[in-house]
Amino acid sequence: MVSTVRMGMPSSRRCDRAQDMPVEGPLVDRYGRVHDDLRLSVTDRCNLRCVYCMPMEGMSFLPRAEVLSFEEILRVAGVARRLGVRAVRITGGEPLVRRGICDLVARIAALGFTDVALTTNGILLAPLAADLAGAGLQRVNVSCDSLRSDRFAAIRRRGTLDVVLDAMTAAESAGLTPLKVNVVLLRGENDDEVTDFAAFARETGRVVRFIEYMPLDAQGAWDRAQLVPGREVLERIGEIWPLEAVADPGSPAPAHRYRFADGKGEVGIIASVTEPFCGTCNRLRLTADGAIRNCLFSDAEHPVRDVLRGGGSDADVELLLRRAVWGKLPGHGINEPGFLRPARSMSMIGG
Ligand code: 5AD
Ligand code: SF4
Repeated sequence: MVSTVRMGMPSSRRCDRAQDMPVEGPLVDRYGRVHDDLRLSVTDRCNLRCVYCMPMEGMSFLPRAEVLSFEEILRVAGVARRLGVRAVRITGGEPLVRRGICDLVARIAALGFTDVALTTNGILLAPLAADLAGAGLQRVNVSCDSLRSDRFAAIRRRGTLDVVLDAMTAAESAGLTPLKVNVVLLRGENDDEVTDFAAFARETGRVVRFIEYMPLDAQGAWDRAQLVPGREVLERIGEIWPLEAVADPGSPAPAHRYRFADGKGEVGIIASVTEPFCGTCNRLRLTADGAIRNCLFSDAEHPVRDVLRGGGSDADVELLLRRAVWGKLPGHGINEPGFLRPARSMSMIGG
């Protein structure tokens, strides 16, 4: 058992003796990682069916009664805020399909987080962008895996590229910046668009982030052969436009940032599989049905919904959050022989 002293914390700090877990101060795990970034999944539903995420037909969604109410989400977010969580990201499924999302964003923002962001597929964003910004949302990440309409249709299987590109413009007009564009690369599907996306980043000033395909699709089709390593993406862009790493010492952000040497824009690489960033992970997740998860790839879930619906106090919620963080493993283990993909897929956990 690792003691709090070895974690570099004051020996006077109060601990839960059973586990040496601190019961005051920030949310810290056994390895000294302070958790100050909370992902809130507000629905597991989605209006798209991306090939790397969900099957075209037959995806089953949570019964509504199992999904947390706004009040329940806000209680967890409020306790997390008091425990030093600084940044919150609203995710799904697709968060904008949840009715009343602007109201929820306003109430989350009112809790005083310094960073309030949202990840969306962009389909419903354009008409909501101004209201979301007015509610206190600061920035958005928009997923877009191809700049060609036919490819977009093949990968995302619903929705259209035009709508998503218009949404990016609307988001920028509303001040939801810097706008980031998430691109999941799939070998043989869209990997020939790496330099098109780099050109897009240069022309628009949007930060394009290339994400490695992770074993988190609902249908279990993930194949390492389809993954495009971040290193390869960098090399291919660098051959045309030299890149410089943006110094971000100790940053917990998953994306490695690179700017174009001529000063025209920036790209990010999220190499979750080939270059895991677990050592600096500061993220904690709340699923739409009220489970706290300390890692996308861990099946350990801490059912905060039972605490909330069982009449638990904020102190009970706090204890659950502390235990969830304390139980976090040092890494996700994707590249280890015994790795088992998590039972719940990305849209159920929250990206
Ligand atoms: N691998 C990598 N990224 C994924 N996303 C969804 N499923 C996967 C997967 N299996 C991305 C979405 C979105 C973000 C929340 O996660 O495209 O950008
Ligand atoms: Fe929907 Fe996002 Fe999954 Fe695509 S990746 S199906 S947009 S939840």
